Amino acid sequence: MESRADFSEVERKAVYRALEARRDVRRGFTAEPLPDALMRRLLAAAHCAPSVGLMQPSRFVVVRDPAVRKAIHSAFQQANQKALAAYTGERRELYRGLKLEGILEAPQNLCVLSDPQSERGHGLGRQTMPETAIYSTVCAIQNLWLAARTEGVGVGWVSIIDPARLREILRIPPAIVPVAYLCLGFVDSFASGPELERQGWEKRIPLDDVISQDFFHDPSQPHSVEEQAR
Ligand SMILES: Cc1cc2nc3c(=O)[nH]c(=O)nc-3n(C[C@H](O)[C@H](O)[C@H](O)COP(=O)(O)O)c2cc1C
Repeated sequence: MESRADFSEVERKAVYRALEARRDVRRGFTAEPLPDALMRRLLAAAHCAPSVGLMQPSRFVVVRDPAVRKAIHSAFQQANQKALAAYTGERRELYRGLKLEGILEAPQNLCVLSDPQSERGHGLGRQTMPETAIYSTVCAIQNLWLAARTEGVGVGWVSIIDPARLREILRIPPAIVPVAYLCLGFVDSFASGPELERQGWEKRIPLDDVISQDFFHDPSQPHSVEEQAR
């Protein structure tokens, strides 16, 4: 692989490997707590993510207390029952069999929040796209997810929780937005592909199906006359 980058070939390959080998992990966590220094590295990885106007809106609540995790888990169960009820037939049965969280199995949880009203960054980029504050926090989450993969730490994102319950349990003030609830812990191995694919819920789509040139084109629609002429 030729490159002009100041990364060695080994380093470059390692980055791509982390991207491809990252998984959403919901099972197989060992009980071993993550050492503080490791947790700090993961949070530092999140904290150095790009952010709109350099506002760094992300905030982190490390959740280890079993009582707090139990409360979150019961919020998950409630939301998951509701979610199940929205499906019918075979899809409902498939959904029922999915394992969609590891809140109690993972020894650490992490709630990632955003402060979208922060004055930091002086509004740069947010006058036109205020939602970029939340996007910035999503970038931080992805940084952490990738760093964790290289440390042998599984991360599972749980979005099946009513945010209002999350606010109550974690005492999140109204101006702060909960973006992700994550389960983190060491795992012995990572699956080679998404669990939802293995379980027949959804399939990954080929890269070529999501790329168009110059103008937006939905790959499921036939090309327009103008596009065909080009
Ligand atoms: C915003 C977001 C929310 C997600 N919420 C859940 C969730 O509630 N439960 C779950 O099991 N997985 C959740 N996932 C994980 C996805 O199911 C997973 O990323 C996808 O199936 C691809 O698998 P992979 O991450 O292993 O490549 C979430 C992922 C994202 C990005």
